[in-house]
Amino acid sequence: MTFPGPRGLLRRLPGVRAVDGVSFEVRPGETLGLVGESGCGKSTTGRMLVRLLDPTRGRVSFRGRDITRTGQRELRPLRSEFQMIFQDPFASLNPRQTVQQIIAAPLRAQGASPQALRAEVRELIELVGLAPEHLDRYPHQFSGGQAQRIGIARALATRPHLVVADEPVSALDVSIQAQIVGLMERLQRELGVAYVFIAHDLAVVRHISHRVAVMYLGRIVEVGDRDDVYGAPAHPYTRALLSAVPVPDPVVERGRERIVLHGDPPSPADPPSGCGFHPRCPKARELCRTEAPLLRIASAGATRQVACHYPEA
Ligand SMILES: Nc1ncnc2c1ncn2[C@@H]1O[C@H](COP(=O)(O)OP(=O)(O)OP(=O)(O)O)[C@@H](O)[C@H]1O
Ligand code: SF4
Ligand SMILES: [Mg+2]
Repeated sequence: MTFPGPRGLLRRLPGVRAVDGVSFEVRPGETLGLVGESGCGKSTTGRMLVRLLDPTRGRVSFRGRDITRTGQRELRPLRSEFQMIFQDPFASLNPRQTVQQIIAAPLRAQGASPQALRAEVRELIELVGLAPEHLDRYPHQFSGGQAQRIGIARALATRPHLVVADEPVSALDVSIQAQIVGLMERLQRELGVAYVFIAHDLAVVRHISHRVAVMYLGRIVEVGDRDDVYGAPAHPYTRALLSAVPVPDPVVERGRERIVLHGDPPSPADPPSGCGFHPRCPKARELCRTEAPLLRIASAGATRQVACHYPEA
């Protein structure tokens, strides 16, 4: 995804290559965590998956079907199969609609009868831990956590196969975060929905994900099973990122190696040559400056993929 650059005096300035060369799959019923610093392209990736953004190049396939260029009319029946949950529940709920209307909207778009609609919405509101009497209220009458439950009910109304959740708990109080994450886990078990779970909070991602993808400067630098990525990170950036997460055990915490990264991530409008991480990488060598590493399986028999010339064994 390249966003067009701002208009300059004489010509358009260079575009921002927000996401580049990213390739991954999400399996039915699993949670893929997507992590990385601010601006690395997580939201852009998530929005492309559900066709809220059209990729400049490349392809998005959904259940074996290429949906990259599917027209709006053809997309309509498919829309119900992938949904999105947003960071700010209030901003994504229409303040002038009742909860009933909000949750019913995606079902109405499918042509459900008024009777079926009412029954379905009742079931959904209970599914997310709210009560039928909440249905006649408006979004501002709820707390952040409750509003996010409504957003989740709406996203799940059409029983989608995939939900992209973009920082779904980062705007909530810490005490509420665990409840919402727990709710999403329960709903996944009950409905078999797959999640792409985007978050800054590495502990939350570790908790909820089956697999984890780490992004840096518009690329995936490491992707694999949660326990592999967290237990033995292979990419220097993943190692640095995880080394910043505190460990609950004070003894382990004291002896823990912290890798401090210097400088900010470079601008995607002007990325470095070779490996995008080389200006900050403690392991960078000559090759890193000239050649971009490809995402590949790091060692025989492993499933984890790493984009680094010199990954940790
Ligand atoms: N509509 C847009 N027009 C131009 N540039 C954009 C647009 N949306 C995102 N970008 C740029 O693309 C890059 C990736 O942004 P994105 O929002 O995907 O990052 P992110 O990983 O979700 O960050 P955060 O953690 O802050 O939400 C950033 O440099 C951002 O400024
Ligand atoms: S390719 Fe080189 S610069 Fe990039 S992460 Fe690996 S060691 Fe560091
Ligand atoms: Mg984002």
